[in-house]
Amino acid sequence: MRLCIKHITQFVSKDRVYARKDEALKHVKALYEKTGAGSDFLGWVQLPASTPENQIADIEELAAFYKENVEIVVVVGIGGSYLGAKAALEALSDNFWAMKKSESPKVIFAGQNISEDYMCELLDLLETRKYGVVVISKSGTTTEPAVAFRLLKAHLENKVGKTKAKDLIVAITDEKRGALRTLAQLEGYRTFVIPDDVGGRFSVLTPVGLLPIAIAGFNIRQMLQGAADMQKETAPDVPFENNIAAIYAAARNELYNAGKTVEILAGYHPKLLYITEWWKQLYGESEGKEEKGIFPAGVTLTADLHSMGQYIQEGLRNIFETVISVERTAHKMRIPNVPDNLDTLNFLSEKRIDEVNKMAELGTMLAHVDGGVPNIRIEIPAINEYNLGKLFYFFEIACGISGYMLGVNPFDQPGVEAYKKNMFALLDKPGFEEESKKIKARLN
Ligand code: PA5
Repeated sequence: MRLCIKHITQFVSKDRVYARKDEALKHVKALYEKTGAGSDFLGWVQLPASTPENQIADIEELAAFYKENVEIVVVVGIGGSYLGAKAALEALSDNFWAMKKSESPKVIFAGQNISEDYMCELLDLLETRKYGVVVISKSGTTTEPAVAFRLLKAHLENKVGKTKAKDLIVAITDEKRGALRTLAQLEGYRTFVIPDDVGGRFSVLTPVGLLPIAIAGFNIRQMLQGAADMQKETAPDVPFENNIAAIYAAARNELYNAGKTVEILAGYHPKLLYITEWWKQLYGESEGKEEKGIFPAGVTLTADLHSMGQYIQEGLRNIFETVISVERTAHKMRIPNVPDNLDTLNFLSEKRIDEVNKMAELGTMLAHVDGGVPNIRIEIPAINEYNLGKLFYFFEIACGISGYMLGVNPFDQPGVEAYKKNMFALLDKPGFEEESKKIKARLN
């Protein structure tokens, strides 16, 4: 994996980025030594290299059990308890996985919304399918997954009986606290623990991400190996010049200081869409606080060149772009020669589709830079488990460094409570009587 910041230097010089070297490395050290803000939530920093073998084996064994017994596994969770697994599965799966036969169960998601139609249509699908449920919530009290799980639990128990349902349900939650832990204990579900010191958006390399990924048939050992290798490549003893996470963090902070307050993560493969969604949560929840922070946005190209391209090229000049560039595709296909050339495309004859994609990427990068949009490029050799492990860890450690450079605590999320308080007040949740009165008075 490589990082290229050459195309930001028209806007902020390499010297300016490198001038933040000592500061960036100080923050890497603080992450490892747990001396910075949010130090209770740094369990993920050294996790990839130290995931216990028995935990990996348990996950694989459970994946084998589901493969044997069900066609579908519904993974219930939201935010950090959803996006990492979703990102990995979309990236690693065939683009048309939902419509193709597969040996492993199909993993689908619930609890990431409160849409009545979504739940009705899901239960309708499950009516005729053999399925299992993996419910994930660190707090164990989040409304969206709790509502979905209540419905799924009742549906499954009704369908196969309570005893069989118990074997088909797995809970991933806090070791001791929360309603889901209590429920799992009482019902006798098999459980995995989300470590206390790992926040939701940093949990993709714990059972939260690993179990769904293994159930879908992907190699979690390779993913952990990729993450562990990236851990080595970004450790405190690595010089700034070689530490791509520290350089990325310094570059984006310098761009922010130069007025580039929006970062657009761009991919040229539709499979990367949910990597962007995961990244948006990671950086948005970690940095958007105290009226500061780069706004994380995303595009899938070339599709979005036909929608957002105009804005990126000529809109407000507060944007920079970070491209995930994939060196090798999994498949090879050439554009055929057509003798009559009625579509005038013969200049592309015999070229690989990926070559056209790469030229679109290069042409777009140069056009955007000319239009005032600095460009950072993250190059990965191919989309596979190993490289995704690297990419996940790279973005996580860079996020910690970057948040510290920005001067915020990247590991809390006080702002997400505001909507919950209003929603509970509007729904007359016990304990919210005062808020209910106040909010209802506001609406009259
Ligand atoms: O990153 C976070 O902490 C959040 O996005 C949480 O993951 C999300 O709110 C879900 O929380 P929980 O796992 O407690 O249900």
